[in-house]
Amino acid sequence: MKMWEGRFSKELDDSVNDFNSSIRFDMRLYKEDIKGSIAHAKMLKKCSVITEAESDRIVQGLNSILEDIESGKLSIDLSAEDIHMFIEQELTVRIGEDGKRLHTARSRNDQICLDMRMYVKSQIKKVRGLIEALLKEICATAVNHTHSVMPGYTHLQRAQPVTYAHYIMAYAQMLKRDINRLDDIYVRTDEMPLGSGALSTTTYPIDRQYVCDELGFSDITANSIDAVSDRDFVIEFCFALSMLMMHLSRFSEEIILWSSSEFAFIELDDAYSTGSSIMPQKKNPDIAELVRGKTARTYGALTTVLTMMKGLPLAYNKDMQEDKEALFDAVDNTVLCISIFTKMFATLKVNTDRMLEAASKGFINATDCADYLVKKGVAFRSAYKIVGRLIKYCIEKSKTLETLTLKEYFDFSDKFDSGVYEAIKLENCVEKRSVFSGPSEASVKAQIASITEFIERG
Ligand code: ARG
Repeated sequence: MKMWEGRFSKELDDSVNDFNSSIRFDMRLYKEDIKGSIAHAKMLKKCSVITEAESDRIVQGLNSILEDIESGKLSIDLSAEDIHMFIEQELTVRIGEDGKRLHTARSRNDQICLDMRMYVKSQIKKVRGLIEALLKEICATAVNHTHSVMPGYTHLQRAQPVTYAHYIMAYAQMLKRDINRLDDIYVRTDEMPLGSGALSTTTYPIDRQYVCDELGFSDITANSIDAVSDRDFVIEFCFALSMLMMHLSRFSEEIILWSSSEFAFIELDDAYSTGSSIMPQKKNPDIAELVRGKTARTYGALTTVLTMMKGLPLAYNKDMQEDKEALFDAVDNTVLCISIFTKMFATLKVNTDRMLEAASKGFINATDCADYLVKKGVAFRSAYKIVGRLIKYCIEKSKTLETLTLKEYFDFSDKFDSGVYEAIKLENCVEKRSVFSGPSEASVKAQIASITEFIERG
């Protein structure tokens, strides 16, 4: 029999029961649900809504349920409607009539909001920790590559020389923003909704602040109708995960390109790449491809929760039960992706010779050659034209700016002298870019120090 049996004269059709039930997925909220119920029962005692003895038996019963679920002694009954009903029913089996007092001054509408906020808070912390772990790996790699010259690209065409350290520290900045975004979302998630009841609170003299403090929330929600209808924190979290996945996906795309024979800038560790069933020579970047592919799933979750909410009148509507599978999938997927991505990144080998070779071939010091003329008094636009002609000449003669003779340089401008060779040396092109945020060793070291400090601040 359902808990609403008083009002109904027929059993629910089996198919409706399955359709309506959320236990298959909300069972993962058992810990949050029990902890919330314990705080609620303690508060009911404090406010004399139930007696001390009743409350103590409820708390004891709930603790034993938690223990038994954790130890595997109690398995969750999938025929229950949802995790709230399962725990309440199990409590009543264990302690009898007193179990039926737990739901006083509470509704499943505020209960699920509480569970979800507690869950999102814990997952924000988890994801934050995983991002920090990746940031540490990036910094640890970057310190060893402040002199590893590689081409930087625009339009995927070789553009200007940078270093591998400078390049990967770009991703560190994105991940830092991801952490800041999570921290920001945490503040809004950290509001305690219990006491909102179904939508209009309750006539019992409850103490919401007590529950808030018991459960370690920073604040209580300020409007009961909003509190039970609000899933902004779920949507925001799905967005933060989507953004994080987008960053990992771009990084994955680079890793896929770099591990191709055409680039060969990196080699993936054997433990983090896969072979082909037919082509024996293949070593495939499947992990990076899957991270890129699974990004779509996290976006899917964001689209699901956004769309689910857009037409809902206040306050609670059952549609909102649909937030869980989307959120849980986004969390699981993202946690999985960042964990394995970090290991793949930490073990990949960097082929600095190939990077330097690629950097030496694409005339990526052309800007520096033009800048050299500018320093000799030529206007930048004119210098740009002269170097453009030089490049054309080099291509025709199969030469590079490094291999041109001084006489050849002279034919294009008499402002050139032997100093040009120093000016176009790739290492110098990098080192001279000592502007804050740039690729010079000192600049990149400052970036690494700042990110390291950011992680240590926690
Ligand atoms: N399973 C529900 C959900 O996830 C819990 C809240 C149920 N409330 C209700 N009035 N049926 O949204």
